[in-house]
Amino acid sequence: MLNVPSQSFPGPSSQQRVASGGRSKVPLKQGRSLMDWIRLTKSGKDLTGLKGRLIEVTEEELKKHNKKDDCWICIRGFVYNVSPYMEYHPGGEDELMRAAGSDGTDLFDQVHCWVNYESMLKECLVGRMAMKPALPKDYHEEKKVLNGMLPQSQVTDTLAKESPSSPSYDWFQTDSLVTVVIYTKQKAINLDSVIVDHRDDSFRAETVIKDYSYLVHVALSHEIQEDFSVLVVENVGKIEIVLKKKENTSWKCLGHPQENHNSIIPKKDTGLFYRKCQLVSKEDVTRDTKLFCLMLPPSTHLQVPVRQHVYLKLPITGTESVKPYTPVSDSLFSEFKEPVLPNNIYIYFLIKIYPAGFFTPELDHLQIGDYVSVSNPERNFIISQLQELEDLFLLAAGTGFTPVVKVLNYALTNIPSLRKVKLMFFNKTEDDIIWRSQLEKLACKDKRFEVEFVLSAPTSEWSGKQGYISLALLSEFLKRSSDTSKVLICLCGPTPFTEQGMKMLHDLNFSKDEIHSSTA
Ligand SMILES: Cc1cc2nc3c(=O)[nH]c(=O)nc-3n(C[C@H](O)[C@H](O)[C@H](O)COP(=O)(O)OP(=O)(O)OC[C@H]3O[C@@H](n4cnc5c(N)ncnc54)[C@H](O)[C@@H]3O)c2cc1C
Ligand code: HEM
Repeated sequence: MLNVPSQSFPGPSSQQRVASGGRSKVPLKQGRSLMDWIRLTKSGKDLTGLKGRLIEVTEEELKKHNKKDDCWICIRGFVYNVSPYMEYHPGGEDELMRAAGSDGTDLFDQVHCWVNYESMLKECLVGRMAMKPALPKDYHEEKKVLNGMLPQSQVTDTLAKESPSSPSYDWFQTDSLVTVVIYTKQKAINLDSVIVDHRDDSFRAETVIKDYSYLVHVALSHEIQEDFSVLVVENVGKIEIVLKKKENTSWKCLGHPQENHNSIIPKKDTGLFYRKCQLVSKEDVTRDTKLFCLMLPPSTHLQVPVRQHVYLKLPITGTESVKPYTPVSDSLFSEFKEPVLPNNIYIYFLIKIYPAGFFTPELDHLQIGDYVSVSNPERNFIISQLQELEDLFLLAAGTGFTPVVKVLNYALTNIPSLRKVKLMFFNKTEDDIIWRSQLEKLACKDKRFEVEFVLSAPTSEWSGKQGYISLALLSEFLKRSSDTSKVLICLCGPTPFTEQGMKMLHDLNFSKDEIHSSTA
C-alpha cells in the first residue's frame, strides 16, 4: 500500500493533508505500472495530440476538455492532456477526473504535493494558461533596496494581511566575514526555523515563521568559502548567518536578487527545495527495514524539527521520483547524550524496503557515497501541543514507528509536566520490531516510559499480546494518570490501521484535540 497521511494528522495547514475518509491505491491493469508509463513517455508517441506544438489555453478552452478521452488539467499555470495517463494513475481514473477541464492545483497539492508531475507529464504538456500569475511586487525591485532593507511601505505591500509581521534583513561585513542578519520579529525562532543553502554563487535562506516562509535569496556578488555558521538570538528572533569571504575585499552589495527574494510567502507556495546529500551508511534494523544515514553538504544548514518529514528524490529510469520520509535520530538514546550537537550534519531514516515497490528498491540499491536529494522539511505536528502534557500515548504499526522516535525523545527530555509515555507497537512477528532492545532499555532507564509489543503473526513462543488494533486492547492500554490529565494520542501506521484506530479512539470518547493520526 501507498502511505499517505489522513485525517487530523498532519495538521490542517499541511500540504500532506487529504480529505477525511482516507483513500487507497486502485489496482492498475497489467502493463500500466509507473515503469510502463515512463516507457510510453519515452517512446516518441504524440501524447498531446498537438504534434509537439505548445499553445496558450484560455479558460473556455480548458473547460471543453473534460472527458476521459479528452481530459486537460491545469497545474500551476501549465495545462496537461492527462487522457493518456488515465489508466496509469495510481489513484484511479475517477480521482483524476475530479480535476478534468479545470485548475487542479489545489486538489493535486492536497492529495500528493510531492508527486513530480512536471517530469512525469512532460510529454503531455499542452501549453500555458493565457493568464499568467502575477509576480510578487518586490520581485526585480532590489535596485531600490538600501543595504538589503526594503522601505517599510514596500514590505507591507507584499505581505498578505494575515501573514506574520514583516521580517527584514540586513548585512554587515568585516575584512574576512559577511554577516547576513534576519530580523524575524518573532520570539519562537530557533535553529530549526532557518534553512540555508549556498550553491555556486546562489545564497538562499528560508526562515519559517508559522505557515509562512521569509526568503533571502541572492546571487552573491563575491565568492565565499563552503562552510558558514548560523546563530539564533531566540528572545529577539534574530538570525545571524556568518559567511567567510574567499578574498579579503570590501563588498559593495550582497548580491543580485533571485526569485522571491525578500518576500514572505505562504509556505505551501514556496515549492520543495532540494539539496544533494551523500549516503554515508546503511544498516539492517529488521529483515526489511534499514537505517539510512545521509550527510548534508557543508554548504547547507538544515535541521528537521520533531515530527516533520522531508521528501527524498531519486532519478528512476530518467524520471525524478519523490517520496516522503520522516527523519529519526540515529538511535533511541542519541538525544539524551550530552552535549547534543547543535548543527548536526547527518539525517537518519528508518525505511522499509518493499521488493515490489517503486522507490524503496532504488534506495536500497544505492552504494555508500551515492547521492540522494533531500527537500526542506514539511510540518505536520505542532510542538506546542506537547506542552503541559501529562500522558502521551503512542500507537504505531510497522514503519509508522518513525515519527514516534523524535516525539518520544522530545517529550521525555523537554516536557517537565509529563507523567507517562506509553508506546503500543504493532508488528507481524518479533523480527519486524524496529529497535526492540533499545525500547526495552529505555523503559528500564526512564520509569515514565512503558512499551508493549503486539504481534499479528507470532511464533508459538510469544507470550506477549497478539492480534490487530482493537477496542479491547486500546481501552486497557489508554489509562489516564488522572481524570483531568492532559492527554495526547499519536497514531501512525498503514491506512487501515489509522482509520480503524481513529474510529476506536472516538468510540472511547477521546476528543479530536487529543488525537493525532497519520499514515506511514
Ligand atoms: C508523511 C509520510 C512519512 C513517511 N515516512 C516514512 C518513513 O519514515 N519510513 C518508511 O519506510 N516509509 C515512510 N513513508 C512511506 C513512503 O513514503 C513510501 O510510501 C514507502 O516507502 C513505499 O514506497 P515504494 O515506492 O517503495 O512502494 P510503492 O510502489 O508505493 O509500493 C508499496 C507497496 O504497495 C504495493 N503496491 C504498489 N502499487 C499497488 C497498487 N496499484 N495496488 C495495490 N498495491 C500496490 C507494492 O507491491 C508494495 O508492496 C511515509 C509516508 C508519508 C506520507
Ligand atoms: C488533480 C487531481 C488528482 C487527484 C484527485 C489525484 C488523486 C490521487 C489519489 C487518491 C492517489 C492514491 C494515493 C494513495 O492511495 O495513497 C493518487 C496517487 C498518485 N497520483 Fe494522483 N491525483 C490527481 C492528479 C495526479 C496527476 C496530474 C498526476 C501526474 C503525474 C498524479 C500522479 C499520481 C501518482 C504518481 C500517485 C502515486 C503516489 C505515490 O506512490 O506516492 N496524480 N492520486
